[in-house]
Amino acid sequence: MKSKPSIPLFLILIASAALSGCGGTTTTTTTPPPPPPNTPDTRATALEAQMTQAQKLQLVMGGVTSNLTYGYTVPRGAAGYVPGIPALNIPTLYLADGSVGVGNGVGPATALPSSLASAASWDTAEATKYGNIIGTELADYGINVNLGGNSNLIGREPRDGRTFETKGEDPILAGKITAAHLNAIQAQHIIADIKHFAFNDQETGRTTANAIIDDRGGRESDLLAFEIGVKDSNVQSVMCSYNLTNSVYDCENPSLLLQTLKTDWAFPGFVMSDWWATHSTSNAAIAGLDQEEPNQQYFGPLGAAITAGQVPQSRLDDMVHRILRAMFEVGIFDNPQTLQPIPAAADAAVAQDIEEQGAVLLKNASNQLPLNASTIQSIAVIGSHADTAVLSGGGSAQVQPTSGVLTGPQPCPPCWATVTWDISSPLKAIQATAPSAKVQYADGSDLNAATSLASSSQVAIVFVSQWASEGMDETTLNLTDLTSAAPIDQDALVAAIAAANPNTIVVIETGNPIVMPWLTPVNSVLEAWYPGQAGGPAIADLLFGIANPSGKLPITFPASVSQLPRPNIPQPPDGYTPFNVNYTEGYNVGYKWYDMNNLTPLFPFGYGLSYTTFTITNPAIVNNLSSTTTPNFQVTFTLANTGKVAGAEVAQVYLGLPSSLNEPPRRLVGWQKVPLQPGASQAVTIEIDQNDSSHPMSYWDTGSSSWQVSSGVYTVYLGNSEAASSLTTVGTINVSQ
Ligand code: BGC
Repeated sequence: MKSKPSIPLFLILIASAALSGCGGTTTTTTTPPPPPPNTPDTRATALEAQMTQAQKLQLVMGGVTSNLTYGYTVPRGAAGYVPGIPALNIPTLYLADGSVGVGNGVGPATALPSSLASAASWDTAEATKYGNIIGTELADYGINVNLGGNSNLIGREPRDGRTFETKGEDPILAGKITAAHLNAIQAQHIIADIKHFAFNDQETGRTTANAIIDDRGGRESDLLAFEIGVKDSNVQSVMCSYNLTNSVYDCENPSLLLQTLKTDWAFPGFVMSDWWATHSTSNAAIAGLDQEEPNQQYFGPLGAAITAGQVPQSRLDDMVHRILRAMFEVGIFDNPQTLQPIPAAADAAVAQDIEEQGAVLLKNASNQLPLNASTIQSIAVIGSHADTAVLSGGGSAQVQPTSGVLTGPQPCPPCWATVTWDISSPLKAIQATAPSAKVQYADGSDLNAATSLASSSQVAIVFVSQWASEGMDETTLNLTDLTSAAPIDQDALVAAIAAANPNTIVVIETGNPIVMPWLTPVNSVLEAWYPGQAGGPAIADLLFGIANPSGKLPITFPASVSQLPRPNIPQPPDGYTPFNVNYTEGYNVGYKWYDMNNLTPLFPFGYGLSYTTFTITNPAIVNNLSSTTTPNFQVTFTLANTGKVAGAEVAQVYLGLPSSLNEPPRRLVGWQKVPLQPGASQAVTIEIDQNDSSHPMSYWDTGSSSWQVSSGVYTVYLGNSEAASSLTTVGTINVSQ
């Protein structure tokens, strides 16, 4: 059965017949046709008609003149730029990173919690605030193209060093959160970007990794996240990635760029290369690359390739049209930027709110948390520079926080990224929140000093962290200290503190899932991610119940590396020969893989605790239309806060597809985060709409190259995590041909 079109064809036919039948006059008039509407397309066409060939070529390549991979400077501290054409009033494009705040050398900016924390809020309104901070600060700095939007589906490789920039392992959650970021950025008249297209799921050998994946596997996993991100946000640029997919470099991959992106998804914007990810002139141009970044190594000779008949002139015209069209679409021509100071204090407050919505409480034995500020007498704070700062992720996403930085070494690899801590002291925030308690700090380098402080304190709070960066992957899921010349064995530190104090709480600052060999004796665990420059006060608020944790894991925490599809990360033979990374798991990424293989992870996708309790009652499936064959339905239920404090629960709807399709037992298809006062309840309706960009009930049919809904029985589950034990079967839907 085909997906249902959003407007039935017969209705369209009836409407047009009625219109043409009215009127009844045969008089012919010679009224001239109205002028074409002033759309981004018509404006781009009109402007392009005035351009010389040299001016057209100027727009399709970056302005950086050096071929060096790093160490160049760009105006406004950006990562790249495309010089404008003053004679035609075409402004310069300044391209800057911004996955977790404004990056590169642009200037001090608000260091937001990692994008993964934004996804952990499971809240698109919260994600809109995230994008708004990035967009408004970029605009204040005079940057008009953002290189954020990292949508690689990293649950495929949870050790990936860029996991902190992504939105987790589920294509629908990742796509929706990304779209909210991108919409908010483009609302500031900035071209947003979604990257790295596609299958750039490991950093190890990222420029030569050859992702091998079948058509259906790709469409239902990474590509689905991109499809949602592109369609729900009107994003105007896509960055193709360094790696190869099915043996073709992504920036000259017609299957990805021409077929999937530009034809199937009707993407009207432009494709830029990742930095130095272009590999050819004619092949890349013909395959759909529209702009080489950051320099002109391959598109410098594009004019000659056109003259020689190797690339049609129409292709250059299309590239230019797409770039100009994008500029008109977001309003770059009509809204000149005003360079001005960023509202640092106000934005830091938003960063704190985002962290409080995204931190995930993983364990809370004996309701150890929240701490009571008025009765607690002594607290040991241990480890991870918690006296001064919180950790951030490295690479091109690195932000220079407005709160200041504490830098560490440059671990090799990747060498070009420096460990950077955002100044924000959890210790001081804890002291300020519990002023009558004795709060003392040990840095954890001296195990005896740390355990003796822990054993003489009422409560011990151990901070652990793991640095991650673009250009590298974690070698293990165990905590590894890359941040100091004398690394601390943090697993041993937590175990020792837990042995010394039965009231031990662990706060984790990581960009990736970790394993927790010390979990059993520890009372409470809070995953704070990289919490951003307001991390100190946010963590204190969460520990003392001023904020109630409501984040849910957007990525599974494995029990061990042996559970992963590839326990050993495939390694490149050298720096230049492509090597295969076989994505044999296909669309079974993250929790889908665990479910398919009957593996029990440490913490499941969608999991997170609260200081209050919730119940879900009266769940039911309501069909949108009267027919039982319609692929649109709603899940209704009552959600109640049965505890003593205000909190928010994320109700999650999963769908099991007919068993004949060989899909995983369930996929996330909808959710809603509902804030509730204690004792309050709310009727909730979650709509599952087959016309949505997420194709919730469909599988990708390779034969017809289209999304299809199979006949058969669909099982609907509702609960507060992906684990079977957290889910209720709401009922089934029978789809028949
Ligand atoms: C990264 C991109 C980034 C670009 C510009 C590359 O190394 O992969 O994500 O946008 O640099 O800084």
